[in-house]
Amino acid sequence: VRLEERFPTLRTPDSPTRKIGGAVLPVLETRKHTKRMYSLDNVFSQEDWQNFLKRLDNALPGAAPVFWCDPKMDGLALELVYEKGVLTCALTRGDGEQGELVTAALRTVRNLPGREGAAAGAVWPDLLEVRGEIIFSRADFEALNARQRKANAKPFANPRNAAAGTVRQLDTTITASRPLRFLAYGFGEVRFGAATPWQTYEEVMARLRAYGFETPPEGRLCASPAEVEAYCDAVRLNREALAYDIDGVVMKLNDLEAQDALGYTARAPRFAIAWKFPAQQATTQLLDITVQIGRTGVLTPVAELEPVTVGGVVVRRATLHNEDEIRNRDVRVGDTVIVQRAGDVIPEVVRAVLSKRPADAVPFVFPHCCPSCGAPAHRIEGEAAWRCVNLSCPAMVRQSLAHFVSKAGLDIDGLGQRWIELLVAAGRIKTPADLFTLKVEELLHYERMGVKLASKLVASLDRARKDAPLQRFLCALGIRHVGEQTARTLAREYADMDALGRASLEELQQLPDIGSEVASSIRAFFEDVPNRELLQRLRELGLWPVRAEKAGEALQGTTPAVSGALAGLNVLFTGSLSMPRSQAQRMAEEAGATLAVGVSRKLDLLVVGADPGSKLDKAQALGIRVVDESEFLKLL
Ligand code: IVH
Repeated sequence: VRLEERFPTLRTPDSPTRKIGGAVLPVLETRKHTKRMYSLDNVFSQEDWQNFLKRLDNALPGAAPVFWCDPKMDGLALELVYEKGVLTCALTRGDGEQGELVTAALRTVRNLPGREGAAAGAVWPDLLEVRGEIIFSRADFEALNARQRKANAKPFANPRNAAAGTVRQLDTTITASRPLRFLAYGFGEVRFGAATPWQTYEEVMARLRAYGFETPPEGRLCASPAEVEAYCDAVRLNREALAYDIDGVVMKLNDLEAQDALGYTARAPRFAIAWKFPAQQATTQLLDITVQIGRTGVLTPVAELEPVTVGGVVVRRATLHNEDEIRNRDVRVGDTVIVQRAGDVIPEVVRAVLSKRPADAVPFVFPHCCPSCGAPAHRIEGEAAWRCVNLSCPAMVRQSLAHFVSKAGLDIDGLGQRWIELLVAAGRIKTPADLFTLKVEELLHYERMGVKLASKLVASLDRARKDAPLQRFLCALGIRHVGEQTARTLAREYADMDALGRASLEELQQLPDIGSEVASSIRAFFEDVPNRELLQRLRELGLWPVRAEKAGEALQGTTPAVSGALAGLNVLFTGSLSMPRSQAQRMAEEAGATLAVGVSRKLDLLVVGADPGSKLDKAQALGIRVVDESEFLKLL
């Protein structure tokens, strides 16, 4: 580090100093993939597989297909861009067209090759986009969860979620502390300089290994469909012995020219297919059924199980979804039940083994009042869930506060479930705003709270108060149906909560992935008086994030006017005004506006002069607020 501080040119992208983490990103940026990252079609049976072979034969008559086969890794798909053997960029798959930039996180991954890692004589292409999966081995996953539990943090549901969460960590010190691995199984764009182009998938995989990439275990060439079938059987039977979670086998035509000839459907390649394994199941005893209250008040029945290993992971609890599911499956306490873990979902109880049912087992009676506060629960017509509607139900308050500070929310270091429970029980916090009034001295009165922990906690809260990105804040508020993806979309569109609060149902529904249900729930959030009061209190306490670009400007030293009449708004002028346009623009900027370059959904305000032209039509079509010059001056 010292060397690089003195000689900055030594700080190359592949420097070891970048592998130890340390960068904290305000928010993940997105970027387009050079070539689209497709999904894969699946087959589940011999019949589906034969149909796939028939389709191949129709497209390439008479060709005896040879396949490269390897296990389907159950992690998060990524693309790594290597320029002459140096990692310059890492992107998640995202929606296939564009992904999130996770380069800083990937620099901390230990099993990636550096220039020194390549086998002797392996000549890197000028550009190589390597595709693969980022995962935890099962053993590393268990160790990570043990650490999470010890630190009072929520354990991850499965290796896949843990990998996805770790890669998208904004604080790369955390990423670096977790042993992620990248397994390479394909490529995107390749520009061969001195290297020779590839002809077969087998050769691609050999080259990837020669550059120093780890590839999926047990990958091999199968010279006929019969060999593929034998391979699938062998991998399925051997599944538990592998170090990684897999959920099937992928078959890819070995001949790259044939791959090109076949091409892609809208969703997936025609030259490759995944044979998905059935979900892993195990049999165990149902010891009890408990009912949990979620942060939205939903009563969720949970099966408390005799611990059982399912696909290499110990399962103690499983969801029973809701009242109807328990009734339909007729699951009773004391039953022997079949439990399954299907890829990325939480374990679930499939059914009871009726032949083993004890004579005295009785049907479960679903509680119609909240098991936490005793208030009557309600079941809304058309919904499966019972809800506690007591807004001050302690379980609900605890859950929503826990969510507010969790990784999905503001990610407050040191403030786990246990502390939330204590502070709520003591009556010290009732809403998220109360958190930001906590003082070190008062925390010291709590058992097991020392000066060090209390100071760390107050410091993390303070940091979050000043620096929380809008997207995280939106997630933390727990608006129904607003998860990470929706929060990202909203934070891209709106400058702050004020701007979002002004958005109409119609406007919200024009955004990608936002349908009527999500839009209504956002509107309902803003129409609720306690929510508005909460936002007002948070604003007074100084927690008022503005859109990421603003944070970026602040980082670069130009302080955006966050207090002006047009603070955070994207403003555009069209038509001729009574003053020079540049003067109007300067006035807008001084009032905190950002000047937009054209009409898009991101625009907050269009100021129109005489003869406005097509911009006005477009803005009206998008439902953007339009004002004339005198209204603009009034606003200022
Ligand atoms: S090959 C041209 N091989 O599964 C085919 N994909 O569910 C490109 N995946 O998005 C993919 N393990 O990211 C291939 N051994 C493997 C894989 C694999 C996991 C992912 C892939 C795809 C997803 C589809």
